[in-house]
This record gives sequence, structure tokens and C-alpha cells, in this order.
Amino acid sequence: LSKPVLVIGGGGHASVLVEMLKQLKYPIAAIISPEIDETRKVLQGIKHQLKDDAVLSYDCKEVVLINGIGSLPGNSLLRIDVFKRFKKLGYTFLTLVSPHAIVSQYAELGEGVQVMPSAVIQPGTIVGANSIINTAVSIEHDCTIGMHNHIAPGAVICGEVVTAEKVHIGPGAVVIQSVKIAENSVVGAGAYLTKNIEENNIVYPCKVIIKKFNGKFT
Ligand SMILES: CC(C)(COP(=O)(O)OP(=O)(O)OC[C@H]1O[C@@H](n2cnc3c(N)ncnc32)[C@H](O)[C@@H]1OP(=O)(O)O)[C@@H](O)C(=O)NCCC(=O)NCCS
Repeated sequence: LSKPVLVIGGGGHASVLVEMLKQLKYPIAAIISPEIDETRKVLQGIKHQLKDDAVLSYDCKEVVLINGIGSLPGNSLLRIDVFKRFKKLGYTFLTLVSPHAIVSQYAELGEGVQVMPSAVIQPGTIVGANSIINTAVSIEHDCTIGMHNHIAPGAVICGEVVTAEKVHIGPGAVVIQSVKIAENSVVGAGAYLTKNIEENNIVYPCKVIIKKFNGKFT
């Protein structure tokens, strides 16, 4: 049986994780978050503690943590800080795979990796600690995904792609085979990335052009 789980964060990302924990029958000790959206049914009935420091009242050998703080481009530091802070204090983060995800037995997931429903991770792929592999993401064979990445819903990562730390790949983006993405870069929603990118870059997708159509092309 698993140790009791402390969920850090009480928003949308946490609610998805809590549902996965419930499906997998993990005992949830508490949600730790300065605020919690009581209208989220999935979070109702779980003990709520307000301060991050509430974690310290639990022995680090008796509980596991789950990082329920979401991550968006330009807004990922809190999630990373929480992971680093509690690791330093001796706590362990649960690696959580949805029962509706498919993860090859020849893939490796680092500590605290979260794999959401309908995601597929193929053989030879390694995912670094504290990364989110979100809903319906496909990661093909032999990729190396760095620490603190967020691969957002529906992104497709072809074989042998390498991402460094703190990379964000937006929803519906496609990264073709063998591309390398350097630290702290962002691939925008819906972008097709066919080339390596240096650190601290944002990849924007082609712009959609909308014009009036009178039924025929001139
Ligand atoms: C790429 C991204 C980070 C750019 O952010 P940004 O630099 O703040 O972009 P802005 O909002 O200033 O937009 C600048 C322009 O680019 C367009 N644009 C930005 N991102 C775009 C995208 N992904 N697709 C199409 N157009 C986009 C905007 O419409 C805007 O166009 P305009 O100048 O004609 O108005 C962001 O749009 C993105 O894709 N974020 C991903 C979000 C995500 O992962 N969500 C999932 C959470 S689970």
C-alpha cells in the first residue's frame, strides 16, 4: 500500500491529479494550498491545509508529495521551487501515471513525473524529474525529455527528440524527429518545429490568415 499523499496546490492541475490518485486508490492525506476552489467536486471532502509549511508537520519518511502546481510559459518557477525546496528537506515526490495512459516498460520516468490520461510514451524514452506529460501527448521512441518540462495536451513529439530543462511545448504542437530544444524555450500552441532551437527562444506557429471569400478564387 502507498504512503499517504500530500497534494501541493488546489487548482485545475491538482484536480486532474487528485482524480488520478482516486482512480489508483492512493490514500490522500491533505491538499495544501493557500486557496482551494470548493466548487471542484473532485477536491471536496479532502482535508485542506493553507500553508506550504504544513508539509513540515508530516514526517518525510511517512508521506509522499505530489506537485499539483500547474505550469505555463513564463509562470513555471513556483512549480520548480516547490519541487526543489521539499526535495532538499528530504521529501519524495510521487511519479504518477494515469491508468488510462500507455507508458512503455522500456521508458524511464524520473521522480515526480506526471503522465495524464491518453498520453503515450514509447520505448527508449526518458522523462526528467518534475515534468508533466499532459493529456493525449504522444512521445515517440528514444526521446530524452529534460527536468521541469511541460508537454501540454495533444502535443506530438517524434522519435529521438531531446529537450533540456524547463522546456514548455504548447498544446497541439508537433516536434519532428531528432530535433533538440535548449533550456528554457517555448514551443507555442500549434507550432510545427522542424529545426533545433537555442535556449530562451519562443517558437510561434504560422499565422492563420482569414479573408473574405465570395465563392470563387480569382
Ligand atoms: C507561444 C506563446 C507562449 C506566445 O505568447 P506571447 O508571446 O505572450 O504571445 P502574445 O499573446 O503576445 O501574442 C502575440 C501574437 O501572436 C499570436 N499568437 C501567439 N501565440 C500563438 C499561437 N500559439 N498560435 C497562433 N497565434 C499565436 C497572438 O494572437 C498575437 O497575434 P496579434 O499580434 O496578431 O494579436 C503562447 O501563445 C502559447 O502558445 N502558449 C502555450 C499555452 C499552453 O501551453 N497552454 C496549455 C496549458 S495546459
